[in-house]
Amino acid sequence: MPSASYADPRLAALYDALNPAGAAAAFYLGLAGPAPARILDMGCGTGLLACEFAARGHHVTGADPAAAMLAVARARPGGDRVRWIEAGAASLATRARFDLIIMTGHVFQLLLEDGDVRAALRALGRHLAPGGRIAFETRNPAVREWQDWNPRDTRQRVEAAGLVADVHYDISAVAGELVTYETWFRFTEAGGAPAAADDAPDGTVVVPETLRFMDQPAVAAFLAEAGLTQVTWYGDWDGAPYTPASPEIIAIAAGDRPGTGAE
Ligand SMILES: C[S@@+](CC[C@H](N)C(=O)[O-])C[C@H]1O[C@@H](n2cnc3c(N)ncnc32)[C@H](O)[C@@H]1O
Repeated sequence: MPSASYADPRLAALYDALNPAGAAAAFYLGLAGPAPARILDMGCGTGLLACEFAARGHHVTGADPAAAMLAVARARPGGDRVRWIEAGAASLATRARFDLIIMTGHVFQLLLEDGDVRAALRALGRHLAPGGRIAFETRNPAVREWQDWNPRDTRQRVEAAGLVADVHYDISAVAGELVTYETWFRFTEAGGAPAAADDAPDGTVVVPETLRFMDQPAVAAFLAEAGLTQVTWYGDWDGAPYTPASPEIIAIAAGDRPGTGAE
């Protein structure tokens, strides 16, 4: 069940304006090797990266549990060159096998329970072709990036698909590894956003989301448990190696028997 931030078509329409492609996209595009590789973008969202891989001649599948996000992805230029599947990481079940599976935009942090993480990594491992790799990132908890997610520092106006909204983030709870924050969308009249039944009268929509901040040893342990023991670690999108002070924990993992994906 996708969270509200990805289930509401208005919020899906604003996603790219709020999350423009950055250095992470270039990093992942650089992992594919020569075309055509078989690539799965798990948690593909609005499909920006999936379509970029397809434009480079790769055979691409984009999977996401949120129908509203996939609707944006399908309508994107080049969206007809990608196979789209409505599924989350744990529920993926296709006969296809992939040379590269990516999970970008901190999708890994939406796996809140140990069981979710185990099920997701096992399912993705089963979908690797011999020699295939899984690449994803999670924010380093030591950096406490969530401390910057406050109204003063994050306020911005976003416009897309005829919608205009003033947006900011705010932290509502920090409990161990779990950080809950709210995204506030205030749709302006000028945007002509149709009010939904649960919108506040002033056009405000508040979307809570919880993320798990797991440290690198914990990520490594979950990967090993899934049979993904050959791991290269990076700490930032410029390819710097992971250190305990890195902003990101980026894992590129393969199965422990060379030439095979994890079972
Ligand atoms: C922050 S967006 C990232 C989208 C895209 N990968 C990007 O980099 O822009 C998170 C996406 O993960 C999806 N998602 C949520 N739970 C998921 C799960 N269990 N498995 C895979 N994707 C999931 C959401 O529907 C949403 O589209």
